[in-house]
Amino acid sequence: MSKSLISEEDRAIYKLHQLIFRETGMETERNYSWRSEFMLNVLTNFGLGYNPRSDYLTLSQVYSLERMIKADEELRDRFVAAYCPSTVWFDRNEIGGKVVSKSRELGEYRVLSAGCSKGSEVYSIAIAFLEAGINLADVILIGVDVNQKAIEQAMRGVYLNEEFDHPYNQLPAELRTKYFSKQGNLYVASEELTSGVEFKRCNLVNGEEVAGIAEEKFSVICCRNVLKYFDNDNAEIIINNLQQILEPSGIFFCSADGEENRRIKAAGFEEVGKYIYKKSN
Ligand SMILES: C[S@@+](CC[C@H](N)C(=O)[O-])C[C@H]1O[C@@H](n2cnc3c(N)ncnc32)[C@H](O)[C@@H]1O
Repeated sequence: MSKSLISEEDRAIYKLHQLIFRETGMETERNYSWRSEFMLNVLTNFGLGYNPRSDYLTLSQVYSLERMIKADEELRDRFVAAYCPSTVWFDRNEIGGKVVSKSRELGEYRVLSAGCSKGSEVYSIAIAFLEAGINLADVILIGVDVNQKAIEQAMRGVYLNEEFDHPYNQLPAELRTKYFSKQGNLYVASEELTSGVEFKRCNLVNGEEVAGIAEEKFSVICCRNVLKYFDNDNAEIIINNLQQILEPSGIFFCSADGEENRRIKAAGFEEVGKYIYKKSN
């Protein structure tokens, strides 16, 4: 009788990657080594009695995790949050000004931040609209993410000091104080910001969920630092899903290098700037 060449732990690890893939669409197997802090820390927090220093991960632990997630929505949200890399990076690559400038060219103000994490991109764009003299009542600005925990934080517009004062925060000091107030160890977005934008949970791989984000098509969609976490098939599905809700000649901002760039162009977008694409009519 031939002995299995795959250990039980290898099968358990494969099963865990599959579970993450099913819940988030993300391919952790490609992006993270099994022994990375990122993968191990999470497991130790889910009450499986798993100790990465002394134990092998077993199939029955992963099956029990799967059952627990199915039965408990709060736990499922925590699981998704644990495996979705969240970022708080205000005005990353000066996205606010770029979105406002393209929106003005189009004469339309309907913007989606796809994979918005904890909302920093959405608030940066909102600030840029306000600074350009455009009232948020005249703008549709929506952020979506699969991570419910990140969406809840985005809605509240509340950030820990260390999240907000991150060295990558590119918001000038005067805009930080104009639109955020410091409360203890938190920065809190102004009412003008939080009431002028919208956040929703949405899995970008799911065409129905994406189609249901808004009634009207968007003039600008940002999907930055998201596609790199997906395998080829799912990256293509996300691009196609977003293309369906972008109006003709609408603008698509992403962070496309190599394969991602090729895939976006193959889907019928014209490259009109670095990481900026225009939907063909
Ligand atoms: C690295 S962050 C990028 C955040 C922001 N776009 C930026 O550029 O700073 C990637 C985001 O993609 C989200 N994400 C991962 N899989 C997703 C999915 N299937 N649907 C929606 N969002 C997803 C993660 O939760 C995370 O917030």
